[in-house]
Parts: sequence; structure tokens; C-alpha cells
Amino acid sequence: MIIIDADPGQDDAVAILAALGSPDDLEVLGIAAVAGNVPLDLTVRNSLALVELAGRTDVPVYAGSVRPMVNSPVTAEYVHGATGLEGADLQTPTTEPAAGHACDWIVEILMDHADAEVTVCTLGPLTNIGLALVREPRIAPKIRELVMMGGSFFEGGNTTPAAEFNVYVDPHSAHVVFTSGIPIVMMPLDVTHKALTTPERLKLFVDMGTPAGTAVAGMLDFYNRWDMEKYGMPGGPLHDPTVIAYLLDPEIFGGKEVHVHIETAPGATQGMTIVDWWGVTDHEPNAMVMNQIDADRFFALLADRIGRLG
Ligand code: BDR
Ligand code: CA
Repeated sequence: MIIIDADPGQDDAVAILAALGSPDDLEVLGIAAVAGNVPLDLTVRNSLALVELAGRTDVPVYAGSVRPMVNSPVTAEYVHGATGLEGADLQTPTTEPAAGHACDWIVEILMDHADAEVTVCTLGPLTNIGLALVREPRIAPKIRELVMMGGSFFEGGNTTPAAEFNVYVDPHSAHVVFTSGIPIVMMPLDVTHKALTTPERLKLFVDMGTPAGTAVAGMLDFYNRWDMEKYGMPGGPLHDPTVIAYLLDPEIFGGKEVHVHIETAPGATQGMTIVDWWGVTDHEPNAMVMNQIDADRFFALLADRIGRLG
């Protein structure tokens, strides 16, 4: 059983579609939208459009936090375009978000389950889950694992020289999560920058000829351009789907149990994930930090699951 917390975003969209295309492996309890790549009204709208595209309107979408816990909002239209899902020709959703705030829903649904029963997947800033933990700390042991895309260490930042976008946007919520005792699996830029959408990999989606395949191909074609132009990469890094791929096939990834400190102090390093990779402190590990990926197996898995959506 999983909760997806996301700020779609094209790469969030691919992650959500891969999860919805895997009903035999993943029971998606709902999607909590959060402000991030684009403002909340758009991340809610995009989440609804994605469950409709997948034919999975049984999965509720909840509207969550409009802004980070402490800092002012930061968005990334320069990467994702004005709507967040530029490149896909998605229908305007006809369904409505579920009643209630996403943070309330997260607390309620976790408290309704046994300890370590639900996995939380975060694909955006950690505001919803951070606020839920502040409101009801008893949810921590309910979470089997929190698998997150965010942070960076050896690779440096993509939003400031020190910080990756999701942690940069809301470092205070990230701090709450990393000090909560929840088992964390972290997918940083160190792994996602090895998962590039080369032309051969994009072709997997182009060739599908299904509405979901066409939407993914269009979105990734748009989304690639930023990283290819900015960083000179041979393709765009497909960040968020690493979270879903880990749940489906953890052997794709390799990493290390280490301690991660979230830098919250204002200044040039705010939002940095300080990873004690070599164990030079006496801090106990609080996260499994990934830095290796079998990228071809990763793309094949995504294509298989999105191909099942039709
Ligand atoms: C992360 O930031 C967003 O732009 C992407 O959706 C991903 O979650 C990468 O830094
Ligand atoms: Ca995201």
C-alpha cells in the first residue's frame, strides 16, 4: 500500500503513471498534491488529469500545502513549462479533488493502518508529510518506509550550487522527516543523473502508440531540453520515477545506509543534504542513500508498466 505525494511535473507524471500501471504490485491509496514545480492549483489539476488518463479515477487526489513550512514558495516553470505538464496534450480534468486537506488525509489514513503497513512516496518538496508529522507524530511508526526523490551530494545542486530542488524548496520539512526515525530511502541527483532519457529510451514510449505512451513521449521531449541545454547532458534525468521503480524492483539500485543532515540555516548552503558517506561522524544512519542504477533496466520497467495502461 502506498501514498504518493507529488508536485507534477513531467517526471512526477511518469512516476504516477508507472504506479497506476502496476495494480498487482502497488495499491495506491491516494495522491497528495503539494506546491513545488508549479503552484498547488496546477499540481492538483495535473494529478487529476493523470488519474483520468490512466483510467484510475478510483484513486483520490487531495490538495495539500500551498507553500513551504517556513520559506517563501519557489517554483520551476523554467524546467516544466507554465502548466507543469507541457508537452502532453491532456484533457481538462472532469473529476474533482477529494474533500479535505492532504495533510489531514495523510494523518487519518496512516492512523487507520497498522504499524509499518503503508509506504509513503514523496516526489516533491516534503511539506505535506512534514506538516503531517508535526501535527501527529504517532504517524511515524505507521510508515513502513518513506521513499523520496530529493537531495544530492557528490553531484552538487540543481537549484543552488549546494541544493537539489525538492529539499531546497522546503528544507524545514525535510529536516522534520530526516529526524523522525522513519526508515528513509533517498534517490538523490547522484542516482537520477545516471537515468537519462536517451533517444533509444524515449523511443520505448513513442512506439507504444497508446494515449499514456504518447503523453509520456511528449512530456519527456519537452522536459529534456532544460537539462540538456543547461548541463550539457545527453538526455534529461528522469528523477521521480526512481521512487516507484525502487518499489517494483529494488535490485535496480545500489547505495549505502548513511546519516543525512539537512542544512536549514539561511545562506548559500540552505537545503543541502550533507551525507556522511564515509562515516566520519558518530551519527547513526538515518537513510539508505542510492547512488547506482541500472538505467536500461529502469527504463524497460517504466515502459512495461506504462505500456499496460493502454
Ligand atoms: C526534482 O525537482 C523537480 O523539478 C522534479 O520533479 C524532481 O522531483 C528534481 O530536482
Ligand atoms: Ca517532483
